[in-house]
Order: sequence, then structure tokens, then C-alpha cells
Amino acid sequence: MSQEYVHGYTTASKTMAVRTAEREAAYFLPYLEPGMKLLDAGCGPGTITVGLAEAVAPGQVFGFDIGESEIERSTELAKERGITNARFQVADSKNLPFEDESFDAVFSSAMLEHVPGREQALDEMIRVLKPGGLIGLRGGYLTGHVVGPDNDAIRSLITIYNVVWKSRGGESDFGIRQMPLLVERNMVEVRQTASFETRDPTDTDYANRIVTDQFINAARELGISTSEELHKVSAGLIEHSKNPIAYSHICWIEVTARKPS
Ligand SMILES: C[S@@+](CC[C@H](N)C(=O)[O-])C[C@H]1O[C@@H](n2cnc3c(N)ncnc32)[C@H](O)[C@@H]1O
Repeated sequence: MSQEYVHGYTTASKTMAVRTAEREAAYFLPYLEPGMKLLDAGCGPGTITVGLAEAVAPGQVFGFDIGESEIERSTELAKERGITNARFQVADSKNLPFEDESFDAVFSSAMLEHVPGREQALDEMIRVLKPGGLIGLRGGYLTGHVVGPDNDAIRSLITIYNVVWKSRGGESDFGIRQMPLLVERNMVEVRQTASFETRDPTDTDYANRIVTDQFINAARELGISTSEELHKVSAGLIEHSKNPIAYSHICWIEVTARKPS
């Protein structure tokens, strides 16, 4: 797999692990029915996928991710929860190992904004959807995030993180482009909602993420930051996490649509 996931799995996976279908797929669950065959694209640690599997049981759920460690976590989680109708495999969303028109529903949370060639990945998701099938996309919209109280560390984090992410083909406001992209592809019954994910303000995921070797090297190669500066920003974020009035509300844009019958 040549694509580099700049967020790294050791810290990012923890942030994702608290996610559930009840919350992160609340906009999508009402459309699901027992017996549906469903695909979860970029399933990460699988915490949303297992909830989707419960919703469509005895239908089959296939979760895939480009990260091997995520597939191991997902498989382990399904086993722990006694979920027998979910299978996980490593795959790249730009080249799906699934037949045309083979799924009743395709879901994806927070993946496309990380994929260079995201429009090709979206085409693949539509290709494997049956006529009349349902797609549900949940994409980040950084412009809508409510994070504070404002300080230098947060501002530096957002600026540096965004440049590094973009240099790896990321798109931090992708959520807002989902609806037009689905309409361009002649999808019907297109509906958009938005929700906020309230993160634990004492969590230090980003403080840890920006001082991993992988992130420091990426920022240094781009000439936008140094190890020293990143450690300073990280310390500022740790300080911020102790502020009793710190808050972090992450904005997500959710879209559902159907492939024409
Ligand atoms: C932010 S995580 C979201 C995980 C999960 N869907 C969630 O919402 O908790 C993004 C995931 O997309 C995966 N990913 C990134 N590029 C991918 C690609 N080209 N094909 C498949 N998965 C990819 C990453 O490995 C990562 O697990």
C-alpha cells in the first residue's frame, strides 16, 4: 500500500475507538434493514462497523481499510462482541475488490478526506452499490469546528496540521463537497445533515500526534516547522487540555443518497 496515512494509527485510532454507530451513523441507521449487505469503507478500528453489523443482521457487513493494524483491531473487536456477520479486509478504496452492484448500502465515515484521489474512491463506492442502493457519507468540515478557548497552540496546530495533511492529499473541508459530488454523479434522494462530535477536552491525542517521528519528518520536509517548534506546540496543547473551560466540538457533514434504480 503506497498511500501514507499521516495521522498515524497509534494515536488517531484511540480518537476513533470511542465512535459508535448509534452516534456517528445516527443519520444512516433509520434506512437500514435486517438482511441488507453493507460495506463500511475505511472502517478504522471497526467500532462503527460492529454497530452497523447489528443493524443489518443476519445480513453481511464488509469493512475494509488500508491500514493492516485497523483490520486486526476490527476483527478482534467483532470477535469480542460476538458479532458473526462482519468481515474485515485490507483494501484501497480507489480499487475495491468487490463486484459491481453487489451491496445494498455503502457507508463511510471520515475516510474520503484522507484519500488522494477521493473522487475515484467515491466512484468505486457507487460502482459496488446496487441500483436503488443507499450511500451514507460522513465527512469532516474543519471550518465548522468549535475549539477553544482560542490560543497560540491551537492556532499553530490547525495551521501546521492542515499543511501537512494537504501535502498528503488530504482535504480538511471535504464534508461540504460530498453533496455536490453525489448530485454530479446523478445520485437521487440526496439529503444533508450536520452534527458535532464533542471530544474529551482533556484528551492529548493531537499533542501526541504532532510529535511522532512521522509527523515531525513530514513537517520538516515541507519546511513549515521544526521538531523544537512542534514540541512547543505540543506542550501548549497539553497545557490547554488542563484548562477547565477547554472545549472541542468537531463538525461533521452527513449525506445520504440513493443510486437510481
Ligand atoms: C479518520 S479514520 C476513520 C475510521 C472510521 N471510519 C471512523 O470514523 O472511526 C480514516 C480511516 O481511513 C483509512 N484510509 C485512508 N485512506 C484509505 C484508502 N485509500 N483506502 C482505505 N482506507 C483508507 C485510514 O487507514 C483510517 O483508518
